[in-house]
Amino acid sequence: MRPFTIFYACAERWPFVTTGGLGEVAYSFPLALARRGHRVTVLLPAYGDLRSLHDLRPGPALDDPALRDYSWREGTADGLRHLFLSGPALNPEAGGPYTDAEGRPAADLHLRFALFSRACAERADRERAEILHLNDWHTAPAAALVRGGKHRPRTLLTVHNFRYRGETSARALADLFPDLSLPAVADENPPTFLGIGVATSDIVQTVSPGYAEEILATDDALAQCLRARPHGLVGIVNGLDTQRWDPRCDPALGRGFGPRTLARKNELRRELAARWGFPTVNDPLAVYIGRLVHDKGIDLLLALLCELEELGLNLAILGRGDPHYETILRTAPAPEGRWRARLAYDDREAHRLLGAADLLLMPSRHEPCGLVQLEALRYGAIPVVCASGGLRDTVIDVRRSPLGNGFVFADPTPEAFIATVRAARNLIAAPELWHTLARRAMTQRLGWARRIPSYEALYRRLSRA
Ligand code: GLC
Repeated sequence: MRPFTIFYACAERWPFVTTGGLGEVAYSFPLALARRGHRVTVLLPAYGDLRSLHDLRPGPALDDPALRDYSWREGTADGLRHLFLSGPALNPEAGGPYTDAEGRPAADLHLRFALFSRACAERADRERAEILHLNDWHTAPAAALVRGGKHRPRTLLTVHNFRYRGETSARALADLFPDLSLPAVADENPPTFLGIGVATSDIVQTVSPGYAEEILATDDALAQCLRARPHGLVGIVNGLDTQRWDPRCDPALGRGFGPRTLARKNELRRELAARWGFPTVNDPLAVYIGRLVHDKGIDLLLALLCELEELGLNLAILGRGDPHYETILRTAPAPEGRWRARLAYDDREAHRLLGAADLLLMPSRHEPCGLVQLEALRYGAIPVVCASGGLRDTVIDVRRSPLGNGFVFADPTPEAFIATVRAARNLIAAPELWHTLARRAMTQRLGWARRIPSYEALYRRLSRA
């Protein structure tokens, strides 16, 4: 495999700035590429704390007159070359990557990412990158912009979620990209940044084959455009960062555990039950970790709450989200103390929850790939998932297959979900079967090593094009 020169552009990367799966993948994927010998440069907006970069210095100059007030800063993180774009619309004081200083959705969101896309396209072209690897709508316009460059790097656009497209207007586009006649997706109304990327990237890919199928089956303008493309929409499942998610040596767990030392999970569960204040410390523990939004099936989770006593199951919920669901969880009485919710993003607590949990509940009705179910498998927390997107590519129902690693229900209804949680709860009552299942889940190969060759095949295809 010959090494490629890859410029990887993303709005987020853990630990600098992350709001979820995108930032996680943008952390572990480039590292996995570099481990295979590829020359990777990561391009990011200059959010977050850059003090950990010991060699931070002024980066290359920008030529684009639209970027007069902007500059690159360059440094090394995790052994990878990073370029951070900063300037008036992209500065750490402005709030988060998508919000203003008060936490509201940023009024200049499109300007931020139009400028970032311009800068990424210019840099990739100047440095003769072979591949410009773009992620989500924030960087999608760079695919159109590099086409006008001298060296024309090939573009791969990875879409982590088709729900977020960067909707804009024809007028705004003309202002943001005055020098380009943009081939937006025909009939897309309103036009979107993602549509520009889908129309102009050399290859468009998403984060699981199941999700690719779901997207291609819809009948909006973007799906039509995708169906008409020579490579269609390629689906590759995300890999897990098996270093950050390793139950044998996870600093959040104290003493860790492996497939042969599963008994340690009982101690972790008891510790957690005491810390979270569950009155019954020996009953099985289910956890939910993620955003509290309709797409993730929070309504189903709420329907489960009054069944917990009968199921003899404790439930710990960790996450933030829709104020409507947050209010319900804050004010609803916990029957018999069977459930607790912490309305927070807390990475360390997420590790501890998975260490202690018997079950991970993930009833998402829309899930491009999902990472938490992969993390859970590694920690012997058996996932109960809805058969959506990447969940059906990564979780196989143990009732249907001897290779099963979890429980899957087809329709996102409370009845189907509760019946499936009940089936899982019943299997926990058969410890031998349960431990066999947990061991199988924990020893699955979930890391990037299995996935990178599929990306390399795409890069190869691009470099020949
Ligand atoms: C988005 C998707 C999630 C996916 C992640 C990383 O957050 O919603 O399903 O796992 O991106 O690709």
